[in-house]
Amino acid sequence: MRDNGIIVGLDIGTTKITTVIGEVSPSGSVDIIGQGVVPSEGMKRGSVVNLERATHAIRQSVQAAERVSGVKVQSVFVSVAGNHAKAITSHGLAAIRRNQEINQADVDRAIENARAVPLDPNLEILHTLPQEYVVDGQEGIKSAVGMHGVRLEVDVHIVAGTAGPLLNLRRCVQEAGLQVEGFVLHALASGLATLEAHEQEQTTIVIDMGGGTTDIGVFKRGNLAHSASIPIGGEHVTNDLSQILKIPMEEAENVKKRYGAALPELADPDLTLEITTASGTTHAISAFELSRIIKPRISEVYSMIRDEIDQALGPVELVAQSVVLTGGASQLRGAVDLARDRFRLPARLGHPRGISGLSDIVSGPEYACSVGMVLYGIGQDGKVPLSVLNTPAPQPKPASQDTGRPSRPVALSDSGGPEAVTILTGGQNNPSADTPKPAAKPPPAKPKGEQPSLITRLQTMFKDWF
Ligand SMILES: Nc1ncnc2c1ncn2[C@@H]1O[C@H](COP(=O)(O)OP(=O)(O)OP(=O)(O)O)[C@@H](O)[C@H]1O
Ligand SMILES: [Mg+2]
Repeated sequence: MRDNGIIVGLDIGTTKITTVIGEVSPSGSVDIIGQGVVPSEGMKRGSVVNLERATHAIRQSVQAAERVSGVKVQSVFVSVAGNHAKAITSHGLAAIRRNQEINQADVDRAIENARAVPLDPNLEILHTLPQEYVVDGQEGIKSAVGMHGVRLEVDVHIVAGTAGPLLNLRRCVQEAGLQVEGFVLHALASGLATLEAHEQEQTTIVIDMGGGTTDIGVFKRGNLAHSASIPIGGEHVTNDLSQILKIPMEEAENVKKRYGAALPELADPDLTLEITTASGTTHAISAFELSRIIKPRISEVYSMIRDEIDQALGPVELVAQSVVLTGGASQLRGAVDLARDRFRLPARLGHPRGISGLSDIVSGPEYACSVGMVLYGIGQDGKVPLSVLNTPAPQPKPASQDTGRPSRPVALSDSGGPEAVTILTGGQNNPSADTPKPAAKPPPAKPKGEQPSLITRLQTMFKDWF
């Protein structure tokens, strides 16, 4: 944190670049004083693919936040997508002199010992997150300073980023006239912003579903204990709709946000859309059928998360107590319900909390990462202070504003060109994503094996339509 108490989070995402400016009061509470969002440019799945365009977009985003806050931003915390990071848990040891209390230098020595694992030279350590300490075999110690013993051990979760993508991000930020105060793992930031204190203590899985990636963080005993990333996000759902319905991506994005659902049972039973394909043929599709295109993709992401956690930690329902879904794509109707079903755990939508000031402008799940970086900036060792954890959650915006769904049927195309999708019947808002209906039983999972790609399977399923 800088002397003036200003902390800035810069989330360079696949679909948007967000700047959030926070001001920390002497009591430790955080006021949001500025926010800027611009469409992402020059980026692909967390990687810079065009330095100039990414730099330009970063500058635009920061300037927008500066205009709101009246603050000149000098340095920023920058998000790193999990696909550019590698995480390992390493064990460190320090010998303690007999009859001496363990002091901070001993703890630092144990952590340093854990950090001394041979890492690929292409990796740069981003986070060193001490988990629990063990003193003379006594496990589960949160703070070892002041204790007596001769053998101090610690498990440290080390997150390292791939040097190339980090250098490119740093270069863009610097070209935009800013300094990088630190890189923050996307999933860590999202968890810090959305998890309540008890969720950080229990084992909770944070799933940030973005546009191009889904970042996963497992929090345990107040720490990030495991992290991973799946290279699939909301854009894949949009792309599936665009390919199957043969409509432009922008139309598919609108259809998804307004009428899509991850569970056919939650689709509006009265809604039918008329699709005009690029070749001019028309076809009617019900919201129910729409969600039958969407569901397999979300299911695929959840299965990949299950596999990842099963392999790293053990069966999800045994190792974790709950799931918190956040990120823009988590707002898809039914995404939380499907998570509840697939992980067999309580699941909820995670909005940023622990902030005041202009908190309503960053209350949506898509701001979890950028707000989380501000909170990261005031904490230590990847934890946020209690002053933040005890701040009541800001009131999220009503669902209709949150999701951009209209309260009555409207034309879908914003492009001004001929509309590919119009409403034939219905079009009222469906129930909110979090409201489960008495649902038809989901079909049993198909056995895994050599399967064609998801889009090929979907195209086969819906081949008779066009
Ligand atoms: N109401 C909604 N319903 C369904 N999907 C939504 C809704 N609002 C946003 N999304 C989806 O969220 C995704 C963008 O999420 P987010 O802003 O968290 O991504 P990002 O941070 O830019 O990407 P990433 O984290 O993958 O780099 C898009 O695919 C968008 O379609
Ligand atoms: Mg993101």
